[in-house]
Amino acid sequence: MKIDILSLFPDMFDKVFNESIIKRAQVDKKVEIKTHNFRDYTLDPHNKVDDTPYGGGCGMVLMAQPIFDCVESLKTKYSKVILLTPSGKPYKQKMAYDLSHEKHLIMICGHYEGFDERIRTLADLEISIGDYVLTGGEIPAMVLTDSIVRLLPGVIKERSHLDDSFNDHYLLDYPTYTKPRVFRGMEVPDILLSGDHKKIEEYRKEESIKKTKELRPDLLEK
Ligand code: ADE
Repeated sequence: MKIDILSLFPDMFDKVFNESIIKRAQVDKKVEIKTHNFRDYTLDPHNKVDDTPYGGGCGMVLMAQPIFDCVESLKTKYSKVILLTPSGKPYKQKMAYDLSHEKHLIMICGHYEGFDERIRTLADLEISIGDYVLTGGEIPAMVLTDSIVRLLPGVIKERSHLDDSFNDHYLLDYPTYTKPRVFRGMEVPDILLSGDHKKIEEYRKEESIKKTKELRPDLLEK
């Protein structure tokens, strides 16, 4: 898979994509991630990428031209263009699975007070990571990239993401424990030490339901 990210702050991605599993996925050639500063594409003599809104109002609006030119220089018939915006479709695990089957993703990070509405015509998909407003689309692009790359074949053991929260009929993940058996008086449930795999599986399912009821009852309604 190839992921191209368009941003005015490409340096923000360096640390996040050069650690841990996402770094290894790139070293192992499971994914190629590139960031692009769309300021490099502006035709404005002063390198401007934003301007005041028609009709008045406060703040600056990202101009269409640099983003159009940047997307058009990267796009092929295999590309899916995603615009990160708080008014997009709410992001879910199912969308991460669907996007992990694409060959090429282009993510556009909006910034400042907004972007020229015509930029929306470039996008195949507009995505929001939640009902709150961030200063830009960079963190949402990191969230999408991380959640998609971990699903690519060979990036993590498949069993690990089969157990993920939100996979199994909208149940949260079951609780897990490691050594020591007793920590500050809190004991690991006996069943997990029993070696009875059938019972352990049943216990985990029950705990999953219990945890979902407690923390995310809205998921059970689905
Ligand atoms: N840009 C600013 N806030 C955002 C959000 N919640 N999701 C996606 N992009 C954004």
